[in-house]
Amino acid sequence: MLDKKLILFGGKGGVGKTTLSSATALLLSRKGRRVLLVSTDPAHSLSDILGVEGKGILKVTEGLHVLEIDPEGVVKEYIKNALASIEPLVSPDVFEKVREAFRSVEETPGTEESATLEELSKTVLRSYDDYEHFVIDTAPTGHTLQMLKTVGRVGAWLEELLKRRKTAKRFWSAGGRDKEDRALDILEERRRRFSRFSEILLSRETLFVPVLNPERLSIEETSRLVTSLRKLGVGVDTLVVNKVLPENVRDEFLTARKEQEREYMREIEERFRGMRIVKMPMRDRDVRGMEQLEEVAVELGRRLGV
Ligand SMILES: Nc1ncnc2c1ncn2[C@@H]1O[C@H](COP(=O)(O)OP(=O)(O)OP(=O)(O)O)[C@@H](O)[C@H]1O
Ligand SMILES: [Mg+2]
Repeated sequence: MLDKKLILFGGKGGVGKTTLSSATALLLSRKGRRVLLVSTDPAHSLSDILGVEGKGILKVTEGLHVLEIDPEGVVKEYIKNALASIEPLVSPDVFEKVREAFRSVEETPGTEESATLEELSKTVLRSYDDYEHFVIDTAPTGHTLQMLKTVGRVGAWLEELLKRRKTAKRFWSAGGRDKEDRALDILEERRRRFSRFSEILLSRETLFVPVLNPERLSIEETSRLVTSLRKLGVGVDTLVVNKVLPENVRDEFLTARKEQEREYMREIEERFRGMRIVKMPMRDRDVRGMEQLEEVAVELGRRLGV
């Protein structure tokens, strides 16, 4: 993990993605690394756990900065910019149709993911040299996979659009040449950025860490997640099993739960053979505030051997 530029945490709702990504970011920063912790989850909770709130990149400690991406705000901004860059390229009646299409796009599943990706790719590429690690707290599984798939799709779409624009440029113009060239530049910039970002995502610089709990649904979802990530070509070799019950439970009820958990743990080891499986204990209460997060970070460091 120490050699990864991009570390993404993902998994089912509530398994501990925010807790573990925050703990990882804190752990790495305690090792003297400069870290940007980014949340791409619309339901933000970094503020809860780290006690910071606000827009843009915020400083938690010298080496640890955080950014919460607000997908809804980003969608509005994204559509505004996309429309502005398309307007000079097409005639007014075509533009009216595009605008209508964008209105429905706003409601379409996947839009927030694209917008988040837009923001995430900008952030990572812009600050690439400022941080040694970008730790990314992602939204529950489905959204995140959607977002990762978007990288390739949007890239291909832009590629095609630009190709057509370049060959048929003089036929479509509604605005002046300068305006049109500028709009093309913006699209070209976006295409280049997506292509660079997808290069990073698919390289050895990136690690996706699925988080799961020793529970049936969580195991199933993680299994699908790992398969999809491998298909996409995203690096995935470590799993965190979070909220593992203590070994020595006395209570009858907990003993029964622990017994079932052991079965699930065996199943996890079986199904994810070849992957590194890191177990994190269930704590006696929720993780809130820096002090508790620090404890989780220390525990995580110990179990990771870093
Ligand atoms: N090891 C643990 N022991 C006890 N409580 C934990 C542990 N890990 C996380 N929690 C608690 O479980 C709850 C869910 O954790 P967290 O918010 O990190 O999950 P998440 O996967 O980010 O959830 P969401 O999908 O809603 O974003 C929180 O209240 C958190 O404090
Ligand atoms: Mg979360």
